[in-house]
Amino acid sequence: MSSISSLHARRIWDSRGNPTIEVDITTENGGFGRAVAPAGASRGSREAIDLRDGGTFLRGKNVSKAISSLNNIVAPKICGMDVFAQNEVDAALIALDPSPLKEVIGGNSMVAVSLAVLHAAAHVADKPLYQYIAQHYNRIPILPLPEIQIFGGGAHAGRRTDIQDFMVMVPGASSFDEMMEITSEVYFAAGDILAQRGQLAGIADEGGWWPNFDSNEHALETLVMAIEKAGEKPGDKVVISLDVAASEFGKAGQYHLALEDRKMNTEQMIAMLGKWCLDYPIVSIEDPLSEDDTDGMIAFTKIFGDKLQIIGDDYLVTNAKLVEQAIAEKACNAVLLKVNQIGTVSEAMRTFFEAEEAGWQVVVSARSGETEDVSISHIATGLGAGQLKVGSFQRSERMAKWNECLRMQDTLGAAQYAAGSSLKNTWWQQN
Ligand code: PGA
Ligand code: ZN
Repeated sequence: MSSISSLHARRIWDSRGNPTIEVDITTENGGFGRAVAPAGASRGSREAIDLRDGGTFLRGKNVSKAISSLNNIVAPKICGMDVFAQNEVDAALIALDPSPLKEVIGGNSMVAVSLAVLHAAAHVADKPLYQYIAQHYNRIPILPLPEIQIFGGGAHAGRRTDIQDFMVMVPGASSFDEMMEITSEVYFAAGDILAQRGQLAGIADEGGWWPNFDSNEHALETLVMAIEKAGEKPGDKVVISLDVAASEFGKAGQYHLALEDRKMNTEQMIAMLGKWCLDYPIVSIEDPLSEDDTDGMIAFTKIFGDKLQIIGDDYLVTNAKLVEQAIAEKACNAVLLKVNQIGTVSEAMRTFFEAEEAGWQVVVSARSGETEDVSISHIATGLGAGQLKVGSFQRSERMAKWNECLRMQDTLGAAQYAAGSSLKNTWWQQN
């Protein structure tokens, strides 16, 4: 037992220059933990909300009300609680705000407190966070296989492409370190190709290239070229992963790809994605249909579920109940785990175990608005979750997370890398 002696919340600023919440926790015997709330841009409608002031000041994004309720309402409630009792602390937070979308104190407030408590517990236990997580949840730590964005689109790049993330994975690398080398070669090869064609418009929110493509498929063709230019055979060591984020351009079974002015129904969307999966070495697809298209998700998983990793992000919002339902309906075979979508560490862990028990893959993920906080690298590694999605290969809020994995590699050893073992039930492992 080590009781929490103080909670201090302050406003800091995230990678998009928006205000966010940082929480410091101290314990009576000198323990200290700090965490920051991230923020999404392509948010699921069922995820915990970020409590912001509204109005015009700071474009409505200030967090002064959230910070004041943290310092005045949450702090007195959790001071005196045992820092090791994560579930109890989280239950106390939920008791303060039992609303389904955490509208009273905000998912942003909750996640900062919950993660800061986890950090403080690790500090008191005198362990790096990932080791504490492994011990606390009885897991074997292993460095995750990353999904790394090469082109950014959707809500992260002025909707320049409709598909949000064009990513690579390097399941064929023998270590995290080698994965970084290969990804670097692909990332810069892609940038060179765009620059030569006059199609490089800048850097998107998560550090990927902001492209000027004529069609969504053009991005896939270019990605394959970049993999080849980097000296790799597409589909061999390096494969492609997409976050379609279909809720951003689809609703009620109707989809509109604005880039090529193409309107589709669910069936046509599935056919288009299916063709892409035949033509390109795609191993993983996130949110292929919109969050309200359960029939589409079920149909897609029925056709491709034994070949592709099919991830629910906006569709499942790290919610154990939604995951339970999707397991029963066979509407995906993997879940994106974003602690701030659900609010607390304990709730995210419930989702993690629920998914894992069903044989699903879990992909721990950042948000498009991030900071120097590297908690998720420790969560992915400590749980041995298998995969981590952080954005691209540029901008420090992204690189900080990859670099933290390299530091853990020094202790864990290069062999403790999930590599392709996490690509269960995909053509990559069957080949
Ligand atoms: P976000 O989206 O902008 O909501 O963080 C990231 C994602 O869709 O994975
Ligand atoms: Zn997503």
